[in-house]
Amino acid sequence: MNTEHGILFSDAYQKSLKEQFYHADEDPEHGARLFFENSGGSLRLKKAVEVKCAVEQFPDCPERVRGRGLELQSYVKNGTKEILEVVFGAKSGALLTELSASQAMYQAVGAVMENVKWGTNAVTSSLEHPSAHDAVEYYCNKTGREFRVVPANKTTGGIDPDEVMKYVDKDTCLLSIMAASNISGNIMDIKEITRRAREINPDIYVVSDAVQHAPHAVIDVEDWGVDIANFAPYKFFGIRGCGYAYVSDRVAVMPHHKLIHKEADVWSLGTPTPANFAAMMAVIDYVCSIGSHFCDAADRRALYVEGMNRIHLQERALLYRMLEGTKEVPGLRHIKNVEVYVDMEDLTYKDLIIAMGIRGIEYSECVQKYLEHGVTVFERLRSSMYSKRIVEALGIEGAIRVSPLHCNSADDIDRFLKITAKIAESVS
Ligand SMILES: Cc1ncc(COP(=O)(O)O)c(C=O)c1O
Repeated sequence: MNTEHGILFSDAYQKSLKEQFYHADEDPEHGARLFFENSGGSLRLKKAVEVKCAVEQFPDCPERVRGRGLELQSYVKNGTKEILEVVFGAKSGALLTELSASQAMYQAVGAVMENVKWGTNAVTSSLEHPSAHDAVEYYCNKTGREFRVVPANKTTGGIDPDEVMKYVDKDTCLLSIMAASNISGNIMDIKEITRRAREINPDIYVVSDAVQHAPHAVIDVEDWGVDIANFAPYKFFGIRGCGYAYVSDRVAVMPHHKLIHKEADVWSLGTPTPANFAAMMAVIDYVCSIGSHFCDAADRRALYVEGMNRIHLQERALLYRMLEGTKEVPGLRHIKNVEVYVDMEDLTYKDLIIAMGIRGIEYSECVQKYLEHGVTVFERLRSSMYSKRIVEALGIEGAIRVSPLHCNSADDIDRFLKITAKIAESVS
């Protein structure tokens, strides 16, 4: 089957998925809208929010060995196992839990950089979110190592493995490259980057920020060969207030903040939050349910992988439609005054995140115009510390980031295109 331009879900199936999310087509106070800002916090699965609320109703301590407390404990136990094995695809290692993905990143990178005594430098890329970029810089400063930054490919919007290898040497202690960009949507070839970095230095620790990739495609820490990867449930159909990271066996046992008498590879500090794990298990159930719609595997990871691959194909089809349009509705590539930044023909290296602009309209003003037409998107500007380095690295002034989700329909994309054409027309 040719999947170059993705495969759309049937209309009925897409509708059945959208119904499982809150407020997918409207804001109860602000009215009908297209929510195309899933990179800033994705649509919420009803089941994830409901189970969070249901589990929070019980006061029992999740560290008890009987009754309700034991039940609450099972969410933590099963949730930890499922996040590690089903979401990260880990066969070993440990789960680090924090209040945010950024905290998880700092903890994991700090453990490596402070415990490893060899290596005179660490490497990251100019496209990283500040949490991954700054964690490496902070610990380089703290441990007296040279901080190196790989530039982006300004044409594709990605990080090239060849370029990374110019910065890695036998004294590189840690390499941190994101799995997908939160601005250009580019997917990095983490497996190839890890493989080649280990040819230079077999002991190197490899980190991948998977926060933006997690809701769009499969994470496979074993196949990628990384030591650390993280994600945030609120960007992944779930809830705010938690961030998770996988750490490999060799990182898991490094000295870190933990109660002294707990096992060496325990990374949660203090009483865990069963409701957060229950909510994440609802997200995993949802992805597996998509998997079981398309295949009859029995294994949870196999179902999850199938589900994610289907989500990815649906999103690629939406991305293609967004760029090319149809006979009736021109796509972004064909609307006068519209620019798609770091656009590429080959969509197999893109998640459903588009950086664009409309010539003649300043980004913030344009986002406001979209809002007035019932579309929520977001501007990434040089004036924001979150975006400055990244838009500069891509060689653009700024961008409007457009990020729909797999549960959107082809009609949603067409509506967005018609609104874009109307906004673009107003400047000509
Ligand atoms: C790629 C990437 N990494 C990390 C983060 C940080 O996530 P959090 O705010 O949950 O710490 C974000 C948030 O936007 C992100 O886009």
